[in-house]
Amino acid sequence: MNVLIVTFSQFGTTETIADEIGQGLTSDGATVDFVRIGGDTVPDLRNYDLIGIGTPAYMFRPPFPVTDFLREISGLAGKPFFTFILYGTDRGATGNRVRRRLRRGGGVDVGYFTARGPDVFVGYLREGILFSPDHPSRDERAAAQEFGRTVGRRVAQLEAMDEGRRTRYHPDCESYDPATPVLYALERASLNRFVIRTTLSRGFHADDRCISCGLCVQRCPTKNIALTGAPNGGSTEPTPEWGSDCLMCGVCALVCPVDAVRCPYDWGITRLFMKLNVRRGKRTGVPFRSVDPADTSTWTPSS
Ligand SMILES: Cc1cc2nc3c(=O)[nH]c(=O)nc-3n(C[C@H](O)[C@H](O)[C@H](O)COP(=O)(O)O)c2cc1C
Ligand code: SF4
Ligand code: SF4
Repeated sequence: MNVLIVTFSQFGTTETIADEIGQGLTSDGATVDFVRIGGDTVPDLRNYDLIGIGTPAYMFRPPFPVTDFLREISGLAGKPFFTFILYGTDRGATGNRVRRRLRRGGGVDVGYFTARGPDVFVGYLREGILFSPDHPSRDERAAAQEFGRTVGRRVAQLEAMDEGRRTRYHPDCESYDPATPVLYALERASLNRFVIRTTLSRGFHADDRCISCGLCVQRCPTKNIALTGAPNGGSTEPTPEWGSDCLMCGVCALVCPVDAVRCPYDWGITRLFMKLNVRRGKRTGVPFRSVDPADTSTWTPSS
């Protein structure tokens, strides 16, 4: 069986789980190829017997590069697929949206897996909180391998059926996630693409601490930043300027070594929502660790 696993990942946890699922599949004789959205060219899906899509939750939905990828893919008719989601607090509609989209494209849903990953999100880190540190746990990684074996078996059952039964068959796989809590659904709605493009993306700039190191430019997943701005008090070199193709991932602010990036996560209204989220996360028992936002060693995933 030829399997293609497609992932989007900024901090590596989705790829870690992709690897474990891949090991489960290969232990039963499958051949697995991995591609990354935004990094690799996605091969022709028709060359594969099974497609896996893995993504982190971003604002209780899939990140925009994943949504775009799902909109553009073809060749899914009758093709078995599985989905896996990494999340820090509450994945909201992330998994449901990926699964529904793939089913609408004619794919056959053969499995759904979720695991926690460290929530390296600037909004919570600035509140001094890292949700879901030390994840994915050893148990989650083992469960991911087992999941790989399970989807392999489900596909083998499917392949044993004749064409007519196969197109009507949906294996007895994991159920959809419950509806997103109202507070989170509200935040998701207010962080839509239109609002980001027209309003929030304009809220980024580098203050006079900027030393023109270019780290924010290098780490932006959408290449939305360029060193084209006028030099400022901190540097005689060009400083960064932001475009409107933004995920609101906050990575540019996180990686800046001198904390020069000002962005909508500094606004009072945003910080209020972040405080509410942190309170809710703690109240609902999400694992967390207190961190020092200024000390990267306290919150980088490898720490
Ligand atoms: C911009 C951003 C938004 C996030 N939004 C959510 C979310 O809505 N719900 C959630 O549970 N986790 C959220 N997370 C946490 C990620 O899903 C989690 O950290 C995941 O493990 C990251 O995967 P990666 O390491 O493959 O990038 C968010 C993280 C970032 C950076
Ligand atoms: S928040 Fe920063 S790093 Fe993330 S997409 Fe927007 S500009 Fe790029
Ligand atoms: S990472 Fe910070 S210091 Fe470096 S170019 Fe960007 S804003 Fe300036």
